[in-house]
Amino acid sequence: MIPQSFIQDLLARVDIVDVVERHLPLKKAGANYSACCPFHSEKTPSFTVSPTKQFYHCFGCSAHGSAIGFLMEYDGLSFVEAVNDLARRVGMQVPSDQVELQGHLAQEPSESSKSVQGLVEVMETAGRFYRQQLKSSNAAINYLKKRGLTGETAARFGIGYAPPDWQNLDFAFEEPPAEARTELLVDAGLVIRNDDGKCYSRFRDRIMFPILNLKGKLVGFGGRVLGSGEPKYLNSPETALFQKGRELYNLFHARKAIRDAGKVIVVEGYMDVVALSQHGIEHVVATLGTAITSFHVQKLLRQTDEVIFCFDGDDAGRKAAWRALEDSLDQLVDGKNVRFLFLPQGEDPDSYVRKHGKNAFDELAAQSLPLSIFLFRELSARVDLKSSEGRARLVKDARPLLARVAAPGLALMLVKQLVEISGFSQRELEDLLKIRRTSFNPIRERLPRPKPASPYRWLIQILLHDPGYIGKLDRELLLPDPEYAEEIAALLALIEFIDAHPHVKENTAIPSCIAYFEESPHRLLLQKAESETLAWDSDIDLEAEFDGAMARLGNMRRKRRMTSLQNKALSALTPEEKQELQLLAVSWQGQPG
Ligand code: UTP
Ligand code: MN
Repeated sequence: MIPQSFIQDLLARVDIVDVVERHLPLKKAGANYSACCPFHSEKTPSFTVSPTKQFYHCFGCSAHGSAIGFLMEYDGLSFVEAVNDLARRVGMQVPSDQVELQGHLAQEPSESSKSVQGLVEVMETAGRFYRQQLKSSNAAINYLKKRGLTGETAARFGIGYAPPDWQNLDFAFEEPPAEARTELLVDAGLVIRNDDGKCYSRFRDRIMFPILNLKGKLVGFGGRVLGSGEPKYLNSPETALFQKGRELYNLFHARKAIRDAGKVIVVEGYMDVVALSQHGIEHVVATLGTAITSFHVQKLLRQTDEVIFCFDGDDAGRKAAWRALEDSLDQLVDGKNVRFLFLPQGEDPDSYVRKHGKNAFDELAAQSLPLSIFLFRELSARVDLKSSEGRARLVKDARPLLARVAAPGLALMLVKQLVEISGFSQRELEDLLKIRRTSFNPIRERLPRPKPASPYRWLIQILLHDPGYIGKLDRELLLPDPEYAEEIAALLALIEFIDAHPHVKENTAIPSCIAYFEESPHRLLLQKAESETLAWDSDIDLEAEFDGAMARLGNMRRKRRMTSLQNKALSALTPEEKQELQLLAVSWQGQPG
């Protein structure tokens, strides 16, 4: 919980142009700045930064946000991390919750953030201890050598060794173990407390791979047995610091290489990452003994345009690849690619690169299958394409998958490929896909949408453009209306925000209100509305637009009232209602619907 007042101060001090410019060169273009969008690949710049409104918008891929949003997207940071990062740059201190909150509320978050700090510290201490222990363990050094690792590589990855001792961490800390520290070690997953209350080290006689989060903080370990033994790898449990489904091994160190290469390779094992890196392939990350989640995909696509999933060539590998494909479908935007690399049977990236070298591996990666090919190859393998039943079945199987594709270009391309494979014409196929499923977005979106923007939408844009209009707003007209439920909810949230922060009305140089909605369910709608205001030029008659929106709302209210009166039997109307109906009918004339 970072207080809103702080975020306001922060955004008033940073300039989004500076923030963006640090990462990509901007060119002045009229009142705004432009560049080629860092979030999708393009040749002509459609990424725009507005210095007056302090937001960025891409007309190509619809990326949109404040300085905070930019860091979240570009560096893959969380909201809190982005705020901290910006605050550091301008020398501001992010206030602790204690200051803002009162009473017992103040205790909870600050205690938990204190203990998170404590967890980070014990993890770092343990990491140092394991690294040091590796130096004096011949068994561990020999094991790593046997696997072809150089000392330099081991050092680069911070690889360590946990000695066999059940209380091995006692030696990691200078003072004798205190109760509070044991508690922290248990919470960090380094120490296990059994049912009798006895405590012992989780990791013993294992090679230790430290796992860093995106900020470079040590949040977990993977520990491998030296020879054979079960389990082969033991990982940190889920803790306040560490969620397996979210972290990726080596992402922190690989970030620059990923950006330079323009792609990232995702493998399954720690040793795969380490071996590839030693052979000069640095843009590699690994999942942590879990399946790939859509969270992973999202995190990676924020860093780069191309993700290559690398799997074993066996059945298990293909199954895992299929799951990764499913989790990628809804994360894809046009300009971003997901590919699938299958290794020869019996090989993993570690063994392959050691046997065949960097070039051979690069070659394999270059021949990896685009998502569409892998998708149709798998679907085709399940049916008999020679029979019309088989082809119809293929379309049926493809349908729910295509429905998950949000990117219109990719969706269209998939339909075209389906045309080729299935033998149906594009018309037939679109009909087939559309008739049975109304939620098939890609196709629906390409149909013209004749409906004009609602007055609610207009008001959102006007208030974002100039929050001062809130004073003229007739709130009585904002009635519930299921047809516009989402826009009304967003508008009310925006009004509530402006009410609570009246100063946003006064200062014309304030950053766009959007900045405060980074974590709101209304974010996308507000961003989209705001992006449309970019095309407004300075002499747009806001006043007239505003009055027009209010008039339309008034009309909508009258129309609704009229319908409800008309729906009653004439005999059931009171004399007042009859008169009202007459008046409504008169005032209605000449008013555009
Ligand atoms: P693999 O079994 O494919 O092993 O596990 P590997 O990476 O090739 O390991 P080496 O080469 O024998 O050392 C792949 C990944 O699955 C997770 C680990 O993250 C491992 O890197 N895993 C595997 C576990 O979490 N626990 C296990 O017992 C085994
Ligand atoms: Mn291996």
